[in-house]
Amino acid sequence: MTPLVVTIDGPAGVGKTTLAKRVAQAMGVAYLDTGAMFRVLALRLSPVSADTPTEAVSGRIGGLDFSLRGIGADTALLVDGAPVGDEIRTEAVAYAASTLATRPEVRAVLLQAQQRIGRGVSLVAEGRDMGTVVFPAAAHKIFLDASPQVRAVRRVEQLAAMGQPADLAAILADITRRDAQDRTRAEAPLRPAPDAVIIDTSDLDIDGVFARIMAAVAPSV
Ligand code: DC
Repeated sequence: MTPLVVTIDGPAGVGKTTLAKRVAQAMGVAYLDTGAMFRVLALRLSPVSADTPTEAVSGRIGGLDFSLRGIGADTALLVDGAPVGDEIRTEAVAYAASTLATRPEVRAVLLQAQQRIGRGVSLVAEGRDMGTVVFPAAAHKIFLDASPQVRAVRRVEQLAAMGQPADLAAILADITRRDAQDRTRAEAPLRPAPDAVIIDTSDLDIDGVFARIMAAVAPSV
């Protein structure tokens, strides 16, 4: 049987990861965090500048093997057999990933890796171009959105809950900078697929967004 794919795209800080994990758990399928793949490459390749030649970048990433282990919210992303760690979860790595993601040779390598994973296992895939480029034939496509202000306030609240004070203005600036780069790049820019279900999460909590997504994927559950 052909594996089932659900795509969840949207800008930074909109809640994709939390929701993709929950939906994967509810559907009993794997979860693929494609932003983590770009972050891994950003860490491994650092520093890459606009002057770094294409061949130098391709040569260093072509041989990496990405795979998934497990299912639902506990799915782990492995690189050459080793799980990806929390070292990729900083704003500096996120911005480096966003910059690296403008390079066609990087997108080409990850496109192949993502599609190969999707041919092998049913999954919920989250990112920026899942519904438009990587899985255009996905069974269900979701696009989550919320204003930069709403996303920044949520992030500050998340950090506060973890005991980490955060500066709203700085976080809003990070989000705005990354949004601009992800939406305006020439290759696979962030945008909803024509057949995506668009959910504005501004006035919804996580449970509310989860319910909307589950209603959209209901025919496959
Ligand atoms: O989802 P995230 O914040 O972990 O993603 C980090 C960066 O990686 C994001 O700003 C742009 C890039 N990215 C991308 O270009 N395409 C994807 N499918 C996923 C992420």
